Amino acid sequence: EELTIIRKFEHIEHCLKKQVEAHVSTQFENIHFVHKSLPEIDKDEIDLSVEFLGRKFDYPIMIAGMTGGTKGSQIAGKINKTLAKAAQELNIPMGVGSQRAMIRNPETWESYYVRDVAPDVFLVGNLGAPQFAETMPNRYGVEEALKAVETIQADALAIHMNPLQESVQPEGDTQYRGVLKALAELKNELPYPIIAKETGAGVSMEVAIRLESIGIDAIDVGGLGGTSWSGVEYYRAKDERSKNLALKFWDWGIPTALSVAEVRYATGLPIIATGGIRDGIMIAKALALGANLAGVALPLLKPAVKGDVEGVIKILQRYIDELRNAMFLVGARNLEELRKVPLVVTGFAREWLEQRIDLAEFLRERRRK
Ligand code: FNR
Repeated sequence: EELTIIRKFEHIEHCLKKQVEAHVSTQFENIHFVHKSLPEIDKDEIDLSVEFLGRKFDYPIMIAGMTGGTKGSQIAGKINKTLAKAAQELNIPMGVGSQRAMIRNPETWESYYVRDVAPDVFLVGNLGAPQFAETMPNRYGVEEALKAVETIQADALAIHMNPLQESVQPEGDTQYRGVLKALAELKNELPYPIIAKETGAGVSMEVAIRLESIGIDAIDVGGLGGTSWSGVEYYRAKDERSKNLALKFWDWGIPTALSVAEVRYATGLPIIATGGIRDGIMIAKALALGANLAGVALPLLKPAVKGDVEGVIKILQRYIDELRNAMFLVGARNLEELRKVPLVVTGFAREWLEQRIDLAEFLRERRRK
């Protein structure tokens, strides 16, 4: 159990000090808006509010889960409370990091607990999919899921899917057999919404269709182009062989923009577009492709470890300014209208999507099915 905690902090340290992002892009650069010289709206009338899982937020941005698992107000607790204060101030949702450490060491619960500083935030708990696998010793079930949600008074539970990270980690949990069935059972028993969340390798439409079929409430595509968990594991790897494997898979996955398009094309599920979101134009493109929220992790880590709430808000405020500006320039007064503006898809994104979906139809009818 000590191992889980130490691992977690190595991750944070590498994310703060090393280049851990993908060397390939999210593909948002291949998604283009068509500039509108006559927007026919006032910039001031733009409404950025959004509904998601029955709640209304002021902005379509989510602080993606990163950490937890230390005692009291040590590093993880400080990060979560800082992020939570920013989320409370902006009225946007946030997630905590994997609560596996808390299930094993219940005394670490406070590092995930933010209700004291964020009474109203839509809070998402977090557990890992492999923990629910058929072949996992002491596999998790509804009991652990309830504990994760209720100990921190969360509103929903994210189940993270991270086969890439686990597969390049010498001590990785590469049991994934029976996870879909376990999630279907969990969905029947847990009285909270469940978000299936990738962590940097993207969700394909085939996986999204299966998740929708078992009643999962939303998908966080966690696509390629931002933090690479294979990249993080590369720095943690102790020997040549592990280093090689992590390096080879550094850029593995489905780029975020393409994952959003696939999932929106194939399902009606609410989508969170996370993975390499680094400005408000990317957020606008993700929403135009059909995402309901855009999620951000790595850029917020630096101010959060310092307890710098204003620093977190400043980054998010910049994204919000850019999003609003992009919406003005395409004449979209709200997210509904943003979903209908014309988009042009070029290069690699076009090649990919033409082989995966009916791109012409998708570009005409991007609305939720
Ligand atoms: C993460 N992420 C993550 N996701 C998850 O479901 N459970 C977790 O415990 C963590 N832990 C974690 C720690 C740190 C330091 C980072 C940066 C990220 C993944 C995160 O939620 C997100 O999906 C990816 O990081 C992609 O977004 P960015 O970082 O490219 O904006």
